[in-house]
Amino acid sequence: MKKYLFISLVLLAATVAACSQQSETLQGKWIIETVYGQPVAIADTAFITFEEGLEKVHGCNGCNNFFGPCTVKDDQLKFGELGSTMRFCAEAATEHQVMDAIYATVSYKIKDKTLAFYTSSGAEALRLCREDAQLAAYENDVIKTIMERRSIRRYEDRPVPRELLWRLAECGINAPSAVNRQQWEVRIVDNPEYIDGITEVYKKANPKAADDPSFKNMFRNAPAVIFIGSPRSGAAQFDCGLLAENIMLAAKSLGLGTCCLGGPIGFMKNNPDAAPYLQRLAFSDDYELLYAIAVGYPDEAPAAKPRDKSKVILLY
Ligand SMILES: Cc1cc2nc3c(=O)[nH]c(=O)nc-3n(C[C@H](O)[C@H](O)[C@H](O)COP(=O)(O)O)c2cc1C
Repeated sequence: MKKYLFISLVLLAATVAACSQQSETLQGKWIIETVYGQPVAIADTAFITFEEGLEKVHGCNGCNNFFGPCTVKDDQLKFGELGSTMRFCAEAATEHQVMDAIYATVSYKIKDKTLAFYTSSGAEALRLCREDAQLAAYENDVIKTIMERRSIRRYEDRPVPRELLWRLAECGINAPSAVNRQQWEVRIVDNPEYIDGITEVYKKANPKAADDPSFKNMFRNAPAVIFIGSPRSGAAQFDCGLLAENIMLAAKSLGLGTCCLGGPIGFMKNNPDAAPYLQRLAFSDDYELLYAIAVGYPDEAPAAKPRDKSKVILLY
C-alpha cells in the first residue's frame, strides 16, 4: 500500500513539475511592453519570438525586424549577434532602446504570463507579455466588433427588417457631436423603386457597370441604404463620421454588413437626371448629401485590409 502511495506521489510530483515547466517556457511570441520601465513608443509592434529549441529568436524592435541566436540555461539568457532589416525608422529611439536592452540581458523570469529580462546589475531591461495573454486581457464584445467589421460589397438578396434599420439610425444619432448640435440628417431608404430607379439613371451614364453580371444596384447591391446629410458650411463632417461608425459597428454586432460609400454620392449630386432622387431625400435647405452607407446581410467575409501601425506613436 505504502509502495503504491509513494509511486502515486512521485507521479503527481512529476506531473506538477512538467506542467509548471511547460507553462514557464520561453518558447512563443512575447509582446514588448516596457523598456527599462518605460512603455514602448510603438504600440504592440515590438515583440520577440523564441523559436522551438530556444536557440533562435526573431522579432521586431518597433521598426526593424531582427533575428539570430540566443542561449538559454536555467534562468540565464544571452543573445548573440542579431541580424536586422535596415528600414529607416522615424521612431529610432525606441529601436535603439529595445536593442540595447536585449544585448544587456543576462537572465530572465516568467511569472503570470509576464516575462522580464534582467541586466547583470539586476535592473529590469525589458518586460514582455505573452501575445495571447495580452490579447485576452484587452478583448470584449465591443473590441471584437470593431476588429471584425469589414466593408461588405456583396449582400444576400433579402431585405433588412425596418425596425433593425431604425435601431441602426438610433445608434448613429447617439454618437458624440460638437456641442451636442447633432449636425446630421439621416434618411433610410429600402424602397426598391428608389434604389432601382436611381440605379437605372446610373447605368445610363455608366453603361459598363451593367456588364458585370452580378451588378444589381449602384450601392454595392445592398437592399437598404442610409443617406447622411450635413450642413453645407462648417465642420459637421466630424459629427457625421462618428455617426457612421456607430451605425456600422451596431450593424456588425447585429449580423449585418455595411459599406460606407462616397463614390455614388458625387454622381447623385452632379448628374441632372439624378436630381429628383436627391430631392426625394428631403434634406433641409442648408444641408447637403455627404455620404451613404450600404446595409444588408453579408454574402462575403473579406479579410481585413492591412493597417499601418507605424502611424501610431505613443509619446512619453
Ligand atoms: C468616406 C469613405 C468613403 C468610402 N467610399 C467607398 C466607395 O465609394 N466604394 C467602396 O466600395 N468603398 C468605399 N469606402 C470603404 C473603404 O474602401 C474601406 O473602408 C477601406 O478600404 C477599409 O476597408 P474596411 O472597411 O474593410 O476595413 C469608403 C470609406 C469611407 C470612410
